[in-house]
Amino acid sequence: MNRRLLVTGGAGFIGANFVHHWCQLYPSDRVVVLDALTYAGNRRNLASLEGKENFRFVKGDICDRAIVDQLLRSEEIEAIAHFAAESHVDRSILGPAAFIQTNVVGTFTLLEAFREYWEAKAKPSSYRFLHVSTDEVYGSLGPDDPAFSETTPYAPNSPYSASKAGSDHLVRAYHHTYKLPTIITNCSNNYGAFQFPEKLIPLMCINILLGKPLPIYGNGKNVRDWIYVSDHCQALDVVINHGNPGETYNIGGNNEVENIQIVQTLCQMIDELVPDLPVSPAEKLITFVKDRPGHDWRYAINANKIKTQLGWTPSVTITEGLRLTVEWYLNHRDWWESLLSEAYYDYYRKNYLQSQN
Ligand SMILES: NC(=O)c1ccc[n+]([C@@H]2O[C@H](COP(=O)([O-])OP(=O)(O)OC[C@H]3O[C@@H](n4cnc5c(N)ncnc54)[C@H](O)[C@@H]3O)[C@@H](O)[C@H]2O)c1
Repeated sequence: MNRRLLVTGGAGFIGANFVHHWCQLYPSDRVVVLDALTYAGNRRNLASLEGKENFRFVKGDICDRAIVDQLLRSEEIEAIAHFAAESHVDRSILGPAAFIQTNVVGTFTLLEAFREYWEAKAKPSSYRFLHVSTDEVYGSLGPDDPAFSETTPYAPNSPYSASKAGSDHLVRAYHHTYKLPTIITNCSNNYGAFQFPEKLIPLMCINILLGKPLPIYGNGKNVRDWIYVSDHCQALDVVINHGNPGETYNIGGNNEVENIQIVQTLCQMIDELVPDLPVSPAEKLITFVKDRPGHDWRYAINANKIKTQLGWTPSVTITEGLRLTVEWYLNHRDWWESLLSEAYYDYYRKNYLQSQN
């Protein structure tokens, strides 16, 4: 084994994609996943790695200091890639407490544990704490505002983004105060395989296939920068291997698109690929619903720093990425059908499908 990584939240959407990426590219590294398996975590996302010598899954909470301490020592961890979080803005509006607990207290717990462990090892400069964060910490942009850069002041608007901002500040402070080799990345909206079907793109794909309404907040004109998840994983790989401790890197897909355009494109793609949809053309299912409170208008990322300093740029266009994603959801019906039958999906039904009436 060469390097030994602890990946928190590795059974979630981006974490699982990252674990697959890392295990495939660096088969002689050891990857230990720590995940509490909340509604968003799914061990099946890592099924193909189970039983491999260089992979271990541990069910546990990042707020549990004893588990974190034990794993750092017993696995001799050299780098933490920290994905674990409560990640859905709508849920943070309905119930912020879990966001503060996991995103702020959990990140603090990891930082403290890693600091003590790293200090006891005489502070190896090669160790890393990568904190995976979001562009939402920067707030909302108007149509003509310049994209977020690493020096844009923080102005989080939702309990989710405020909790991520709080964790970013802690990570930054641990570098500043203790010289812990931390790095923060702030990335735009991801999409791709294994994304829980409460987020826009998988929700729309599945509802099109089931002939259910496609709920769109407000007038659908909100703009997001979309990045295909494998591009994000590649960027994180570059940051872990070549990024400078104490730095922040913005990661974006260079794809600013209105929500309504995303949904229309998905409708057209699925109309073409699936001839016997319950409702066709699928655009007939589009239903505008009451806007989310405090809904940020536009996010856009200036990713020049990671491009010029570390040589990373995204490689998947939005059309390619959406097609790959649609194909994944078409080919993995058993994956999402099993989630739809779970009790937690009632949350989605209550909060989205009823609001259109
Ligand atoms: N999805 C995006 O578009 C996006 C964009 C930028 C940044 N991010 C950040 O990337 C990270 C991963 O996002 P995602 O979309 O994969 O999230 P996700 O909700 O799909 O997965 C989160 C994972 O964390 C686990 N988890 C939650 N609480 C935990 C706890 N207390 N202890 C251990 N594990 C816990 C869950 O079980 C799940 O496996 C998050 O930190 C998020 O803020 C996401």
